[in-house]
Amino acid sequence: MVSPTDFKTLWQMVCEAPNHRSPFSIHGPDHWQRVLRNGRILATRSGANLEIVQLFALFHDSKRLHDGWDPGHGKRGAEYAATLRGTWLHLSDDDFEVLRYACEWHTDGHHHDDPTIGTCWDADRLDLIRCGTVPEAEYMSTAFGREIADHGSIDPWLHMAGEISL
Ligand SMILES: [Fe+2]
Ligand SMILES: [Fe+2]
Repeated sequence: MVSPTDFKTLWQMVCEAPNHRSPFSIHGPDHWQRVLRNGRILATRSGANLEIVQLFALFHDSKRLHDGWDPGHGKRGAEYAATLRGTWLHLSDDDFEVLRYACEWHTDGHHHDDPTIGTCWDADRLDLIRCGTVPEAEYMSTAFGREIADHGSIDPWLHMAGEISL
């Protein structure tokens, strides 16, 4: 379990680590924060493990080398997270495996029935709007993700994200 204070410090540390460009690049920390927000909203209904969803937001694109086609970046993000186990991350083996899978396959995996993995992927895909792509319900794994995609915007649900103090 990562305390809110530790999560904030961890977030800062990963943001300052090498291998992403500006905070506002399309796959940089600005995007991670929206994935965090989306994940928090989705998790209110999806039954996801919120801690894993929050760590996915932080790590899934953390080891991108650039904003182009960058195969393996999710796997590298998971490997980076693995190096922080026992110090910053205190997930059980089973929970870490969920995080690892969600990170490694977030680009290639299409849908997943596991509520946590599905929530991670939907949270990421709901931010496709930043690239001018309106997320489509058929690419969502969770019922809530499909509902938001059908609406065309997550805006009506933003109040559910709680206070994001990162
Ligand atoms: Fe990615
Ligand atoms: Fe992403």
